[in-house]
Amino acid sequence: MQFAGSHILSIGPFERPDVEYLFTIADRMEPYAQRRRVTRVLDGAILGAMFFEPSTRTRVSFGSAFNLLGGEVRETTGFEQSAIAKGESLYDTARVLSGYSDIIVMRHPQEGSVAEFAAASRVPVINGGDGTNEHPTQALLDLYTIKKELAGRGRGIDKLRIAMVGDLRFGRTVHSLCKLLCLFESIQVVLVSPEELRMPAAIVEQLRDAGHQVLESEALESSIKHVDIVYSTRIQEERFSSQQEADLYRGRFRLNQSIYTEHCEPNTVIMHPLPRDSRVSARELDDDLNDNPNLAIFRQTDNGLLVRMALFALVLDVVGQVDSHARDV
Ligand code: CP
Repeated sequence: MQFAGSHILSIGPFERPDVEYLFTIADRMEPYAQRRRVTRVLDGAILGAMFFEPSTRTRVSFGSAFNLLGGEVRETTGFEQSAIAKGESLYDTARVLSGYSDIIVMRHPQEGSVAEFAAASRVPVINGGDGTNEHPTQALLDLYTIKKELAGRGRGIDKLRIAMVGDLRFGRTVHSLCKLLCLFESIQVVLVSPEELRMPAAIVEQLRDAGHQVLESEALESSIKHVDIVYSTRIQEERFSSQQEADLYRGRFRLNQSIYTEHCEPNTVIMHPLPRDSRVSARELDDDLNDNPNLAIFRQTDNGLLVRMALFALVLDVVGQVDSHARDV
């Protein structure tokens, strides 16, 4: 794919060499993310960050990534703060805001809305999550994390064994991650969810068409015995028709240190896109895992900064100038 000037709306257009190139650039962002070096390569550029659903990680890390490259951020959070609350269409909003920004990141509760917005935008648009559909940059940072975690164990992404656990029906991060894994070889995927929250059949088929082995299960302990990664997810309660319905599933698959010790292979990596469930009694990853060195959830969030910096540099076509606009701190 061509990064420069492109929208990043889904995993679909990515080929394996694109992902590998992106990860190479992400590695090069580390001194800037750690502020050992400062670059002003995006001096004068403006990011329009439009978040019509709650977000901590995606919103702040995109903003920080742009700032670390020298650019400025203009934010809109929540429909009530935007003219969309007065009935303005996505088309008009896109036409207007793309006149004020060099690039836009958008999160919206409706599937397909970010693509609709992008079709009217005059600048590149990055999908920060559209309903239950996709969250492509989360999948990219997840895979970047998997690559780094497994490199320390002498393994690569090919032949990965991964269990995805939780709300696989509404969880957009696992949808995008499965699509991304289709670019690699000989993956074993165990999909652990309640029957009602299974991974959409089209995505399971996509994994199988890529030659991957897919097992579906409703049992946590037996599913995490022979995997490299346990990727846990929250019940997406905002997608259910009622709180009571979501509560039927909350706390169904809870990993804690004693289950981990008894059932997982040594050094199995634990991941989660976050946030974890706010109720301690329903938390997918118990707080007693916080001292487990294989808990990678905060390395994931740190890696998000690197991957998002790399994406900005590629889409705005300044990769070759990052170092020449830089100084040591
Ligand atoms: N992982 C993720 O999308 O987190 P936020 O909802 O906080 O952005």
